[in-house]
Amino acid sequence: MNLRLLSISMMTCAAAFLCVGCKDVPGRPGSEAERPDQVLKFAVLYKQNCAACHGEDGRSGAAISLANPVYLAVAGADKIQQITANGVPGTLMPAFAKSHGGMLTDQQIAVLAEGLESEWGRADALGGQIPPPYASSSAGDPAQGQKAFTTFCASCHGVDGAGVVRGKIHTGSLVDPAYLALISDQGLRSLILAGQPQENMPDWKSDMTGAGSRAMTDQEIADTVAWLASHRIATPGQPYMHP
Ligand code: HEC
Ligand code: HEC
Repeated sequence: MNLRLLSISMMTCAAAFLCVGCKDVPGRPGSEAERPDQVLKFAVLYKQNCAACHGEDGRSGAAISLANPVYLAVAGADKIQQITANGVPGTLMPAFAKSHGGMLTDQQIAVLAEGLESEWGRADALGGQIPPPYASSSAGDPAQGQKAFTTFCASCHGVDGAGVVRGKIHTGSLVDPAYLALISDQGLRSLILAGQPQENMPDWKSDMTGAGSRAMTDQEIADTVAWLASHRIATPGQPYMHP
């Protein structure tokens, strides 16, 4: 069972507690620092607001790596700014804009979105290829998705998606309803598009089957997401989302 996203819930509680704790402690080191809404340095904003879930240096966190040039190129700064402001409803990704109940000004969110691209983006990330759209343009077909999964994913995730432990490859279950309850369909699509370089999971265009193969198509990605999503179950009391 995949515990990476589940671990976020616990970190969220810890972070909330720490922030409450630091509010009115006079004389605490750093208390004469600039007001929170005047911080405009990317590194500081990222560390304070994002690192707990997305990783200290933008990778190896419980949530998707943001220090992934392919992700940054496919999503783009505008989309990232919008998601950071509004959050992802039904998941643990909070809304950060003050207008959505968050703690950050629009300017700070712009600094974050632009900073992610300039610090961790790479102009040649897509290797000259045109990526499928960030968001799916069609509903996927789960039956086709099972086939695509077998072709592109099974070597590392098992034919049933339940994970494998083989040599250096250790994967958790992608079809566990507890995992699927914590990630949106777009969250799954983003991971397929962008891969996870730090885990050696290839992006959409890289050779996924190891047999001199081709990039995944938009439709194959949509189908794969639909197949994974078909393993969701309606569990009362669980965060549960449909687009
Ligand atoms: C409490 C944990 C948490 C924190 C803090 C957090 N995120 Fe997230 N973030 C998530 C999760 C979980 C997702 C995946 C949501 C989904 O399933 O679509 C996510 C998704 C995202 C995405 C969209 C990825 C995609 O699929 O395109 C962006 C962009 C993002 N976060 C940026 C940020 C930024 C910038 C910050 C800091 C200002 C931040 N996040 C802080 C948990 C968090
Ligand atoms: C070369 C091996 C490899 C291939 C091919 C591969 N993955 Fe992965 N993938 C990994 C590894 C390793 C991880 C990280 C370990 C984990 O989270 O289980 C991972 C993680 C993931 C995650 C994130 C799980 C989490 O913790 O949030 C998703 C979703 C995912 N893969 C889906 C896919 C899909 C869908 C395909 C096919 C389109 C695919 N992967 C192809 C190796 C691979």
